[in-house]
Amino acid sequence: MTRPSALTAADVGVRPEPDAGAGIDAHLIGLTAPDTAEFEQYLVLRQAIERAHAASGLSVLGVTSATTDDGKTTTAINLAAALARNPLARVLLVDADLRVPSVAAQLGGGEWERPGLAELLSDPAVAMADAVRRRPAFNLSVLTAGQLNGANPYELFQSARFGAMVADARAAYDYVVIDTPPVVPVPDCRLIEAGVDGFLIVVAAHRTPRRLLAEALSILGPEKSLGLVFNRADRPFRGYYNAYYGYGPTARRRASR
Ligand SMILES: Nc1ncnc2c1ncn2[C@@H]1O[C@H](COP(=O)(O)OP(=O)(O)OP(=O)(O)O)[C@@H](O)[C@H]1O
Ligand SMILES: [Mg+2]
Repeated sequence: MTRPSALTAADVGVRPEPDAGAGIDAHLIGLTAPDTAEFEQYLVLRQAIERAHAASGLSVLGVTSATTDDGKTTTAINLAAALARNPLARVLLVDADLRVPSVAAQLGGGEWERPGLAELLSDPAVAMADAVRRRPAFNLSVLTAGQLNGANPYELFQSARFGAMVADARAAYDYVVIDTPPVVPVPDCRLIEAGVDGFLIVVAAHRTPRRLLAEALSILGPEKSLGLVFNRADRPFRGYYNAYYGYGPTARRRASR
């Protein structure tokens, strides 16, 4: 990363959102408790991603999981926060779970001023700078899901505007962290896959069914499966948040056990 400033092209002219900590979900320790031992696991994940960024240009990351409630959104926000702890890093967090969005709610205050990703993908009059919101206290830029207004998410992700949005984001940011719907019950990740360099696949310890994890890995394919992030693991570290990061082959071996 060679950028002199955390201000991005996409942020120019964008009005910052208030940065009150109130309302931020307590599990988002990247924002509420970044100096804790628990958050260090996200810094380990950040380091692996920074190395892949330097080695192979990895920059657009999907965060997904096999099924619902595994911790995708929590992981996406905490990872984006970890990457954004580097003041020179330009980080965009995108809520691409257009069906059940929750980034805005978890960051406090519900869906912010429109537009969001849904409008950006459906309305040619909406530009990236209209939709991205800045959280200066966290060095984060955020693109919330917005409102579908009857649009179909599958069609939106299949449209050329999705590819254009990702290309714009890739050009303006060092890291784009995309929170997505679950892989198995919802078809959207099959389309989002075309835009991301790879997916981190969240596995909820003692919860995500192994069969569904194997199915998710099979749907995404080895090229786009960067590794597994274990959420809610109770060993070997103390606290809630434990992440384990492994590259594709490791992830696939683990899934087939
Ligand atoms: N490590 C954790 N420890 C305790 N609670 C957690 C942890 N990770 C997530 N949660 C909580 O579990 C719930 C589901 O988490 P989250 O919204 O991140 O999951 P998700 O996979 O994005 O869900 P969905 O499939 O609905 O999008 C939230 O209330 C969140 O605060
Ligand atoms: Mg979610």
